Amino acid sequence: MKLLVTGGAGFIGSNFILSILKKSEEYQVVNFDVLTYAGNLANLKSVEKNPSYSFIKGDIADNNAVGEVMKTGIDVVINFAAESHVDRSIMDPNTFISTNVLGTNLLLSAARENNIKLFIQISTDEVYGSLGPTGLFTEDSPLDPTSPYSASKTSADLLALAYFKTYGLPVIITRCSNNYGPYQFPEKLIPLFITNALEDKPLPVYGDGMNIRDWIHAEDHASAIEAVMKNGRPGEVYNIGGNSERTNIEITEYILKTLGKPKSLIRFVEDRLGHDRRYAIDSTKIMSELGWKPQYSFEKAMDETVLWYTENNSWWEEIKSGKYKDYYLNLYGKLE
Ligand code: NAD
Ligand code: DAU
Repeated sequence: MKLLVTGGAGFIGSNFILSILKKSEEYQVVNFDVLTYAGNLANLKSVEKNPSYSFIKGDIADNNAVGEVMKTGIDVVINFAAESHVDRSIMDPNTFISTNVLGTNLLLSAARENNIKLFIQISTDEVYGSLGPTGLFTEDSPLDPTSPYSASKTSADLLALAYFKTYGLPVIITRCSNNYGPYQFPEKLIPLFITNALEDKPLPVYGDGMNIRDWIHAEDHASAIEAVMKNGRPGEVYNIGGNSERTNIEITEYILKTLGKPKSLIRFVEDRLGHDRRYAIDSTKIMSELGWKPQYSFEKAMDETVLWYTENNSWWEEIKSGKYKDYYLNLYGKLE
């Protein structure tokens, strides 16, 4: 079976490719990625010579490139490609619309023209907006996005469902909660805070630090996507969660404790604009219908994740001191 994995050089896409190629020889994986700041082929070094894996540098918002790759006998498209960072979307929404909305539409359209057997749109729990102190997002929760990022992902979901309803394209949408694990770009909470702590740099906690996210290991997300690919029903949405709600300050203190670093590294800074207070996922549908469940427990997986960034310092040091040096110098400059 030939899979077109878009955005496979990013955090979750690369974890998915590594995991699927390890599990089975039945898959041929074509990784189609334009390599933005977040795309990193070093994540895939261990499979670059694997005959079941190939890489094409291309933009999902480029109609010709998408048309060419889709003609190569693809069975299943899994669309991870996106601009994914909420803070960047608040600073500059434009690329989020181009990639997340227009790019997804071009992929859907080319998938339709080529009679693709299944199109999996990797979405997010952020499409549901923010929860109060109780309750969980189900697949029927109203769509109520807050940021330009989540609004662009919601638009892509609606387009994907429209292609199912209007043209009968077999589309499935997955909406997962916050991922963590190896190879996450160190702009997101967990890898930023682990690597800052390792460098004895300040940890910028937004607002009062009491916002809640439901954390899931990227390999559990990968196994959920595999379950959806094998047995999911076209036209359906599947929520994926880790059943591990934590406040940001709990995460921060856990990282500092694990690394034996002082709480004096914490800096409470200005809140993110439109900051969603709480996300929490009801995964009953995927668990009962497809028999999936997360394998990782939060504390054990966090300990492994902290260890991974500690041992793979060259991976993130290259990012933080190389091309993106100014991004981090600017960040630390604001905190000192
Ligand atoms: P990421 O930012 O780490 O990686 C995104 C990848 O997409 C990069 O390799 C980048 O080069 C590529 N890309 C960006 N624009 C592209 C374009 N126009 N054409 C081709 N490739 C392009 O993101 P991630 O955290 O791995 O997220 C992957 C997907 O999962 C996204 O769709 C995101 O919305 C979704 N998601 C993320 C999380 C999370 O916690 N990170 C949770 C739920 C859903
Ligand atoms: O819920 C799924 C979403 O999770 C994905 O769709 C997004 O692609 C992914 O980036 C993530 O979005 P969040 O905004 O929840 O993740 P982030 O790591 O940016 O922030 C997590 C929480 O930590 C959030 O409440 C903001 C806070 N935070 C973040 C950063 C980067 C801080 O307090 N300080 C920081 O420096």
